[in-house]
Order: sequence, then structure tokens, then C-alpha cells
Amino acid sequence: MEHLKIVASARQLPEHQVTNQELSHIMDTNDDWIFSRTGIHQRHIVTTENTSDLATSVAKQLLDKSGIKADSLDFIIVSTMSPDSLSPSTAAMVQGAIGANHAFAFDLSAACSGFVYGLSVATSLLSTRYRRGLVIGSEVLSKLVDWQDRTTAVLFGDGAAGVLVETTTENIGLLGEQLRTYGNKGDNLVAGQFANKNPFAGEISPVDPYFHQNGREVYNFATREVPEVLQAALEAAEVAADDVDYYLLHQANARIVTSIAKRFGQPTDKFPTNMAQNGNTSAASIGLLLDELVESGKVHAGQTIAFVGFGGGLTVGAQIWKI
Ligand code: ACO
Repeated sequence: MEHLKIVASARQLPEHQVTNQELSHIMDTNDDWIFSRTGIHQRHIVTTENTSDLATSVAKQLLDKSGIKADSLDFIIVSTMSPDSLSPSTAAMVQGAIGANHAFAFDLSAACSGFVYGLSVATSLLSTRYRRGLVIGSEVLSKLVDWQDRTTAVLFGDGAAGVLVETTTENIGLLGEQLRTYGNKGDNLVAGQFANKNPFAGEISPVDPYFHQNGREVYNFATREVPEVLQAALEAAEVAADDVDYYLLHQANARIVTSIAKRFGQPTDKFPTNMAQNGNTSAASIGLLLDELVESGKVHAGQTIAFVGFGGGLTVGAQIWKI
């Protein structure tokens, strides 16, 4: 077992909130359809900020909360599918903005599994000579959304959240995990394609920068594969489902969360949700949920917590932590 501590959590949501009702004025939809299919009532949408701004705010809060100086960080990982740019990475922008002069920084692309994949990479780094780092999920998905397309525009929101992790002598940390990728199913959720327009290219096939997903297929995938991956993580951790205090799942759809709780015979209050307020924020969603629960006192040291991400790639990741 890796001896790792989640020292602090933090979150940043854009101030501007957009309700389902407001969306019904700009596209053919309604609160009833959106809420009954997804559990979403509203989402936060940026007006001026970009992904690095949200992530930088989270990083500053993490340092403030833990009383740690930026130059004692060894690394910064930002999981995102909506970076400001491909270069510099969002993580490098955060590193520069907070003056983390001794930290290396890089982005990680695993869509809605980004937070769990990021924690996995951080765990590996902390088992070597590194001592302390940030893992932040940050998304401005509103820039990837086609606002004419009601099948995706109603689902997503913007936001960022993360944790500061460090090595510890306490007997806590990551107990077990299972990460899986299903690249053969990747076409079911695409966003951010670029066209190759070089002068030597053959016929340029049209690409679309916006989100497209086969919602039904992804729904079926999630309800089928996530329980299997979570079960494998529980077995790796040697933890019984009953002994997990909270399951923090990626917040894509309330019906997916309820279905997974049922599969494990667990009460739904062990599977908290916040997609009603935030929508689907991809790599940010699990961190947002974690920080809200820490703030309310529901999640605290001594508990066993499961983090479960799933989404684009397609990807799935489940981890069991003693925090
Ligand atoms: N408002 C009103 N009607 C709508 C809307 C809308 N916003 N969107 C679609 N509809 C209509 C459709 O046109 C369709 O009408 P039709 O039957 O006349 O053709 C009808 O509603 C049903 O559409 P479906 O797409 O079949 O609806 P479904 O019940 O599958 O729900 C949803 C769609 C919510 C997207 C669901 O499939 C889902 O949640 N899938 C999983 C998404 C997910 O988990 N993604 C992974 C993470 S995302 C990431 O990695 C970034």
C-alpha cells in the first residue's frame, strides 16, 4: 500500500449559472426532459475565464488551505479535455501563475476519467523520489459544445477541482485501483477534432470540433463496465462494498449513479450527487463532489472512499482510498 495523504481539496465554479429553463429559450428543450433523463437542473458556464484560470484558482486555494508554499511542490497534473491550448499545457500555465518553481507540470487527457487517472499517476510519482503534488481536473466544456445541438448542450458544465497529495508515514492512501481503456469504442464520444490542412495532405475529410456522443451507447457502456471495474478495484483493495463510506462517481447522469448503487446493494446516500447544480463537468466532477462533501463534514479522515470515473476514450477508472 502506498502511504499517501490527500492533504486538502478545493474547487472553483464560474459564477454564472444557466438553468434548464434558460436553455429552453435558446433551444427546443425543457426542464422536465433534462431533469428526468439526467438529474441536471442547472450548470455553471464561464463568461470570461478559461480552463487555466479555474485551475489556477484551485491551485491557490489548495496551497492556502494546506499552508504549503508553491515552491515546495514537485509536480502539477491538470486533467482536462478542454485545455486553453495544446501548448503551453494548462498545468504549465498554473505552474507559472502560482510560482511553483520546482514543480514539473503536464496535462493528462482522459476525459471524465481524468481525475482518477491523474491520481493514479500522482500515486506512482509519489512512490519514487517525489513528495508532494497537485492533481486538478479543470474543464471549460462550454467551448466544445455546439449550442445548436440540444442532445449535448444540456449536459455539460464548466468548473475545476483538485487535491494536494503528499507522502505520509500514516497508514493511509490508495488501497487498490483498476483503470481500463476501450479505444475500440472511442467513436461513441468525440470532441475537439482538428483537420489536417497541410499543403501535402490528400482529400481533407471534414471534421467537427464539437462534442458528439452516442448517448445511449455510452449509457449502456457505463452501466455495464463501471460495476465490473469498481468490483475489480474493491478486490484489489481487499475492501468489501459495505465497508466503503462513500462512492464518488463521475457526475454524468443520476440514473447511472442509481443503477450502480443498486448493483452493489448499497444505499443511494452512499452515492452522493451534485450534477443537479453542476451538470457534467468531466474531469472536474469527482473533485467538485469531494470538496463539497469535505466542506460539509460528511467526508473526513479515517473513511474509506471510492472514486470512479468513466467517459471519453472510452475510459473507466476506479480507486479505493483510505483517507
Ligand atoms: N430536450 C428534449 N428532447 C431531447 C433532448 C433535449 N435536450 N435531447 C434529445 N432529445 C430527444 C431526442 O431527439 C429523442 O427524440 P426522438 O425519440 O423523437 O428521436 C429523444 O429525446 C430521446 O433521445 P435519446 O438520446 O434516446 O435519450 P436518452 O434517454 O438516451 O438520454 C442522454 C440521452 C441523457 C445523453 C443519455 O443517453 C446519457 O446520459 N448517456 C450517458 C452520457 C454519459 O455518461 N457520457 C459519459 C461522460 S461524458 C464525457 O466523457 C465527457
